[in-house]
Parts: sequence; structure tokens; C-alpha cells
Amino acid sequence: MFKTLMEETAKENKSRIVLALDFPFIDIKDQNFLFQKSQSIIEKVYPYICAVKINHHLVLPLGTFHGVKKLIEIIHEKDLPVIMDCKVNDIGSTNKVIAKYYYSAGFDALIANPFVGWEEGLKPIFEVAKKMQRGVILLVYMSHKGAMEGYGQQIYDKEKERKMLQYVSFARKALKWEADGVVVGATVPEKIREIKKILRNKIPIYSPGIGAQGGKAVSALNAGANYLIVGRSITLSKNPNETARTLVKNCE
Ligand code: XMP
Repeated sequence: MFKTLMEETAKENKSRIVLALDFPFIDIKDQNFLFQKSQSIIEKVYPYICAVKINHHLVLPLGTFHGVKKLIEIIHEKDLPVIMDCKVNDIGSTNKVIAKYYYSAGFDALIANPFVGWEEGLKPIFEVAKKMQRGVILLVYMSHKGAMEGYGQQIYDKEKERKMLQYVSFARKALKWEADGVVVGATVPEKIREIKKILRNKIPIYSPGIGAQGGKAVSALNAGANYLIVGRSITLSKNPNETARTLVKNCE
């Protein structure tokens, strides 16, 4: 089970940092350089992290079944799980194909957007994940300012027959759908605290937005985040291993 795999790896590595392996746009001719840069960062920081998250920054230029699959194998050799941050957001039949491809490439979990709903939306992904024994992590409140326009809006919850905030409804759905994790921005620690009360310790909270986006690791952890997703602060650092090591130390 993905949730257990994450708990065990975090315990073993004494780290709750998920590395977001992101780099700025490069000329497509420099694919080899991008692959080598990714590999080099992994070699430097793997002792200080508990998982790696890959985004379109690598899937688009390197290809899922080419460079990215090789990177997944390298990361798995370090006994670290790999998450695909594809924020799946389509109709169920398409979502199912997307999930099957990413899981077949070796990803241990993927991130999905609950805005598309369950029936003919995310249900097929959860079914594929169960069959292939992989994880699904749901967006509950994103880390950027505009998140308030969607995740922060007030809605009418038909089941409860009352007004509710969108992210509260998504947190409740994460419990109902048995998600393996939820994403709540480190930039909104008060929302992490509120969502933690709903999820209790049943579903872990992943918090992106540390450093480059202004979120603070300690505030997110104190509010109840289980894992911190960190990208540019590490990948663009002159000394990535030292940055990752210091981050882990500050989180103790
Ligand atoms: P930085 O460089 O800001 O990178 O540390 C953060 C990484 O996380 C992604 N990100 C998110 N992913 N929900 C997500 O699923 C979010 O709210 C969110 N905010 C940032 C971002 O794309 C990058 O890969």
C-alpha cells in the first residue's frame, strides 16, 4: 500500500521531504543534459528525502517511457517511491488510460484533481490503482494565490444539505474515496490545520510551496503536514545536498 510505503521510507531515511525534481525550460536539444542533471541531483540528495515527485518538467522533454522510466528505475534503486504530479483532471475513460500509462512506467502514485468528481471521473483511477497496488493523492487546497477562487469557494453540499467550503468537501471526499494522501499548500498553514481535523491521522497531508512560493517548513509541519514537497529550493541550489540536509535538520 502506497501510504505504508511512504511511512516506512520516511522512517528509514528520517526525512519527510519529497523532492520535486523540477528544472526550468531548456532547449529540447539539451535532453541529455537534463537527464544527467536530474540523475546528479538524485545521487546528491537521496539520503535526505523520502520520495521523489516528477512533473511535466521532465515527462514532456524526456518522455514517460524513455528518460523518465530510466530515472524511476534509478530512484527505485535508492528504495524511494516516485509520485507523478499530473493532476489528472479529465473524464473517467481518459483518466483510466493516463493512470495505466503512468503506473506502467513505474510510478508508485499519481496526483488527481477531485473537481472532476467520482462517477465517470476519478472512480476509474481508484479502481486501476487498487488493481495495480499504487496510490492516488488528491488536491485539496493548492499552494498558489488563485487557489482561493476554486478550492476556497463556498459551495452547497447536497449530501449534508448545507453550505460548505470546497476544500472541506474535498477533504471529506478523500476520506470517503480512501485516498492515499491529500495536497494542501504549505502557504496556507491555517487550512492544513483545519483539514487535519477532518482527516485526523487517516490520510497524510503533502505540502508543497516551501521556499520559492513563500511557505515555511516548520509552520506546515506544526499545522499537521506529514510530508513537505520541495522543488526549486533544492534543485536550483548551488549545493543541493547541503540544502536538503539543512532542511531535514530544521524539520526535526
Ligand atoms: P517548488 O519549486 O515551488 O515546487 O518547491 C513545488 C512543486 O510542487 C508542485 N506544486 C503543487 N502540486 N498541488 C500539487 O499537486 C499544489 O498545490 C502544488 N503547488 C505546487 C509544483 O508544480 C512543483 O512541481
